[in-house]
Amino acid sequence: MNIHLCDPAFESSLLEELGAGARRVSAGVVMSKDAPAAESDFIFSRHVLLGARWVQASSVRALAKAVIDGLWPALKAQMAFRLDVFTSDAPESSGDGPLETRAALLREVLTDEIRTRRRALFRAMTEDPTTPRLQVLLVERDRALVSFASAGTLPSGDRVPSDFVAGRVVLPAEPDAPSRAYLKLREALCWLGVGPSAGDRVVDLGASPGGWSWVALESGATVIGVDKGDMHERVLSHPGFTHARTDGFKWAPEAGTIPVDWLLCDIIAEPDRSLALLQRWADARWFRNAVFHLKLRSDSPLSLARTALASVRAAGYADVRVKHLLYDKSEVTVLVRGGASPAEGAIVAVSA
Ligand SMILES: C[S@@+](CC[C@H](N)C(=O)[O-])C[C@H]1O[C@@H](n2cnc3c(N)ncnc32)[C@H](O)[C@@H]1O
Repeated sequence: MNIHLCDPAFESSLLEELGAGARRVSAGVVMSKDAPAAESDFIFSRHVLLGARWVQASSVRALAKAVIDGLWPALKAQMAFRLDVFTSDAPESSGDGPLETRAALLREVLTDEIRTRRRALFRAMTEDPTTPRLQVLLVERDRALVSFASAGTLPSGDRVPSDFVAGRVVLPAEPDAPSRAYLKLREALCWLGVGPSAGDRVVDLGASPGGWSWVALESGATVIGVDKGDMHERVLSHPGFTHARTDGFKWAPEAGTIPVDWLLCDIIAEPDRSLALLQRWADARWFRNAVFHLKLRSDSPLSLARTALASVRAAGYADVRVKHLLYDKSEVTVLVRGGASPAEGAIVAVSA
């Protein structure tokens, strides 16, 4: 079986996406039938454990021993592998403290068990995400799901599962950022593996107060922030920033500036309006790369996310993913990289 991690609020969307045979295991944990990594990238799945199986034991030491015993034939010959131990997103705690504390202890004991059994195997432990991964998801204090598999590579080059432990990007605090929204963009850019760079032209729709613009400006890009709301002084006074105090649904890039290097959009609006906005920009091929937040329809989150994916692809962009990321609440992030294929028609030029 494959095990997926998701936001507990979107289990039903993931179950719908996975289709027949999928079922809930616990909060934020969903099971599906075995499938190769390349077929295991789902919108509402933030992380996957390929070919997982249950291991149960009452103590941490016995659990670690059972994990290693079960994998020993495959594990003992490894020249390099990565060990990840984590819990689901469910805010749980058990009798003797939070499950997270127990997972941290399990990691230590597992490392110890490996070192004791074979020192060479202990030395083979690495952080390298391209090596086979021993993943242990502690579901309850005495039950874990265990997977030992290499990540697969999508045609885009992205790995499934991602390089991030449990699909969680760990970000440093940036006290100078004008708003905490910067975390959402940083997370999305980590998933993309690229971001704005010096000299890039960036358009930030729904820019106020300026967390996303600030991230782009930090990279040396120039930014047009489109929002009727006020921008933070730190962004407004930046020489690379221009404030277009207008409606982001109506604003269009000037002829001669398209395609812009990055379209960023964090407008909170009706899902269908946001979808139409994304389609407008994609159909006109006004951007090369994008991070676009799409509010979800409460009645059919999956169909909206799928429509967004299909419509950007249909506009000629091959490298598109739609993911419900860790910092996403009732929205998904549309991730676009590398531009559209050569246009059949000319790029639509529009004067502002
Ligand atoms: C979640 S906030 C954006 C936060 C921003 N990304 C940041 O990092 O600080 C959503 C923004 O969308 C803006 N907004 C809503 N409707 C808009 C519209 N029609 N055109 C432009 N901006 C709009 C709001 O003014 C609000 O500032």
